[in-house]
Amino acid sequence: MIIVYESFSENLAKAIGKEGNFKIVGILNRFFPDGEQYVRILEDVEGDVLLIHSLWPNPDKQIIEYFLIIDALKGLRCKSINVLIPYLPYLRQDKRFKPGEPISARVIYSLIESVGIDRIITIDPHLHRIKNLSEIFKIECITLSAFPLMAEYYKNKFGNDVIVIGPDIESEQYVKIVSKILSTSYFIFEKERLGDRDVLIKGDFPIKNKVALIVDDIVSTGTTLANIVQFLLNNGALRVDALVSHALLIGDAFEKLKKAGLNNLITTDTVPNPLPKISIAPLISNFIKNKFKNL
Ligand code: R5P
Repeated sequence: MIIVYESFSENLAKAIGKEGNFKIVGILNRFFPDGEQYVRILEDVEGDVLLIHSLWPNPDKQIIEYFLIIDALKGLRCKSINVLIPYLPYLRQDKRFKPGEPISARVIYSLIESVGIDRIITIDPHLHRIKNLSEIFKIECITLSAFPLMAEYYKNKFGNDVIVIGPDIESEQYVKIVSKILSTSYFIFEKERLGDRDVLIKGDFPIKNKVALIVDDIVSTGTTLANIVQFLLNNGALRVDALVSHALLIGDAFEKLKKAGLNNLITTDTVPNPLPKISIAPLISNFIKNKFKNL
């Protein structure tokens, strides 16, 4: 397996390459004066290839770059083209909320697979009305979870005397994984989104003198997490920590979380950000070794 990566995935590619002893190959990306993108794979590759392609922090630009890279790979001697997109953007618009809107999740991912790749691998996708990625992908789509890694890390560092908290119904699938590993109970709040940076949290749970561990797939503007942290602290929680797979942390999100009183934010390297991270490298390396041992 040869790993090819675009620039936002460099650290993750190096970590996976080191973990699994895979060769890694970078890509040159530049813009022509008129704004069109140019890419070139910097070394010859052949055989089974894993492209690690982040679609964040500039999803629209990075989607075009993805199409160009796939075509470049097709011009080489690849036996299979496997694509790791650690964080899948555009999944939250999974229905027409108002007349005149697209179902972005279906549009984007039918384009992503339309270029003829063998499989997609991703981590903790945002699944709500779409219950399984097989509803939008015709090709094989492997979903891995970083929550077992984060939960084990948390248990070793902080113990398991906590209540696991989900901010909304979509988080329940991940909350269950964490509460099982920590052998502890959980509670799911109801969330109503009023705007991009405005959410209403509803729920009533005895949290006085307890440590709360919030579990969510994404922290974007930090609004959801900050609201829950404040709610829990106002209701007597001793301390509030959080496990989040994809810490996008837009703008002042991290400061907002600190100000709300969040103690520890534990996250992964699925997206680039300045926080210390639990690496998904062992998860990906093990997957590759198991999947490709007989190919
Ligand atoms: C959506 O339901 C997700 O699970 C997250 O809760 C959400 O994306 C977080 O967004 P923000 O940080 O902007 O509230």
